[in-house]
Amino acid sequence: MKVIAIANQKGGVGKTSTAVNLAAALAARGKEILLIDVDSQANATSALGIAVAGEHSLYQVLIGNKRLDEVMFATGRRHLSIVPAHMDLSGVEVELTHDGAHTVCMQHALVGLREANQFDYVIMDTPPSLGVLMTASLCACDEVLTPMQCEFLSLEGLSKILYVIGQIRDSGVNPSIVHEGIIMTMYNNTNLANMVIEQVQENLPQQLYETVIPRSVRVAEAPSFGKTVLEHDPDGAAAWAYKNAAKEFLRRHR
Ligand SMILES: Nc1ncnc2c1ncn2[C@@H]1O[C@H](COP(=O)(O)OP(=O)(O)O)[C@@H](O)[C@H]1O
Ligand SMILES: [Mg+2]
Repeated sequence: MKVIAIANQKGGVGKTSTAVNLAAALAARGKEILLIDVDSQANATSALGIAVAGEHSLYQVLIGNKRLDEVMFATGRRHLSIVPAHMDLSGVEVELTHDGAHTVCMQHALVGLREANQFDYVIMDTPPSLGVLMTASLCACDEVLTPMQCEFLSLEGLSKILYVIGQIRDSGVNPSIVHEGIIMTMYNNTNLANMVIEQVQENLPQQLYETVIPRSVRVAEAPSFGKTVLEHDPDGAAAWAYKNAAKEFLRRHR
């Protein structure tokens, strides 16, 4: 079992869309996938058409009231399960900062799951900040996958997340964390977008996914139907891009 955090401290870069659609595309290829929604906005949860009460969400696990498998739900899709979020999750930002509890809460939550080895991949959708939940996720994951918009300021955001990953590695809490990849999102064929991709290619060639996710209103529409883009527009460019990203992900993890 490998745990992948989809992370970028910038908001609106396609983290949730990538977490949901990559998870769905991996599940469609027969991999056993658990999506953990680590954002109190619960966008990944609602994108899959799921709604839960607070007592059945990740928050209860992080504060030590429940085990992860007690708040795990089927999504109605083969091979795809979810640990949903609820807005109460924002509470951990204040409740878990004592004694460094936030650095280990997610690690501890995952111990049983790693032992059971029921899933091939656990995908975590993380919030857009460098707060407690993001730190908890980075401390617990094996790898980080960063969705990035094809914009100039994205490069600054990228160096920030690489820096934070380095800090977490050096702190000893998660010495084996690796930055696995970068996936460019909301691509539109402009000079700027191509220039940004070129720069990432030059600086981090091993990490850049060949697959680029195009800008498509279908990706934005899908969550309002509680569907992934693979369900909402299966033959559209964005669905194909996420299917290709899943293929590439599996090639990189062989
Ligand atoms: N490939 C895409 N094409 C068009 N819109 C997209 C695409 N990916 C994401 N979006 C939209 O952009 C906004 C931010 O995406 P989201 O995945 O929620 O980012 P984050 O989780 O990083 O905040 C959402 O409204 C989403 O629907
Ligand atoms: Mg999000």
